[in-house]
Amino acid sequence: MTSDPGDADTSLVEGAMERITEAGSLDALAAVEADLLGKRSELARSQKALGALDPDERRAAGQRLQGVRRQIEAAVAGRRAALEDGARAERLAADRLDLTEVLEAPWRGHLHLVQRTRDELEDVFVGMGFAVAEGPEVETDWYNFEALNMPPAHPARGMWDTLYLKLGEPETVVLRTHTSPVQIRLMQSQAPPIYAVMPGRCYRRDTPDARHIPTFNQIEGLVVDRGISFADLAGTIETFTTAYFGPDIHSRLRPSYFPFTEPSAEFEITCTICGGPGCRTCSQTGWIELGGCGMVDPAVLGAVGLDDERWSGFAFGFGIDRCAQMRHQIPDMRVLLENDARLLRQI
Ligand code: PHE
Repeated sequence: MTSDPGDADTSLVEGAMERITEAGSLDALAAVEADLLGKRSELARSQKALGALDPDERRAAGQRLQGVRRQIEAAVAGRRAALEDGARAERLAADRLDLTEVLEAPWRGHLHLVQRTRDELEDVFVGMGFAVAEGPEVETDWYNFEALNMPPAHPARGMWDTLYLKLGEPETVVLRTHTSPVQIRLMQSQAPPIYAVMPGRCYRRDTPDARHIPTFNQIEGLVVDRGISFADLAGTIETFTTAYFGPDIHSRLRPSYFPFTEPSAEFEITCTICGGPGCRTCSQTGWIELGGCGMVDPAVLGAVGLDDERWSGFAFGFGIDRCAQMRHQIPDMRVLLENDARLLRQI
């Protein structure tokens, strides 16, 4: 009993089609193709065996097998095209640049408001011809008080609530209570003329409240030259005030007392909250106190060996934190130390 060659072909083609359809990748398809059509395939073996047949049978069987081969080749080609399309679509999808996609911006930090205020104040004074200098935050009693015309037990020392360090003799090393000791260091290290500002951190045994923090920043100014007058001081402060706070904000000087300046004054600026008419922040005066100033006391020039007949000068010192507070209308200064990111992000 001979089996019908047509049945054999049908099952060969069906099996082949199934395998071709199932090939999930171009590599898998290539393997299937070699299996089905390659030199060692069942089909190749059958085609080889044709030689043993007599000529009539050979032609018929040959045509049949060639038909089978064409079907399989066509199916492989079709499957290959489909797989290539799929691969290209995948590549395109992976490469696609979605210009509508909204990405969260990377989180950028920025300098703290107090540092930015310090930088800006320095810029204003540099623009007016001043140099910038710095001094240590830990000072000796001599620099912080004595050279500034405050001998031991001088009552004016009570103006500053000093934090003493346990170093050396008791009460000889302090966290500086103001930037004024840098005036002394500067006059010791360079000869006049001097035009300098000296920013830095200061410490006082203050109880924190809306306008005081025990760690704060001041910027000191010192001018020593020939023929410097009080008018130079007033003009410098007015120039700085309008440069930093804007043309609507002005300054005024009110007589005061500091041991290291004579005469001395406190300087005030137009209240930035109400702009002058008076409000709660400025206690209805229209003015806000920013710092102290005056003509350098001859005793201070004497402490650093400068001849007060030849040289005269002025000095001023004011709070950097207070400037930031006034410019940004911050009701409570303590937020500047708290480092609450919700606030810092806004300013
Ligand atoms: N050092 C003074 C203070 O901290 C301010 C000041 C500086 C006053 C320079 C006069 C001259 O209060």
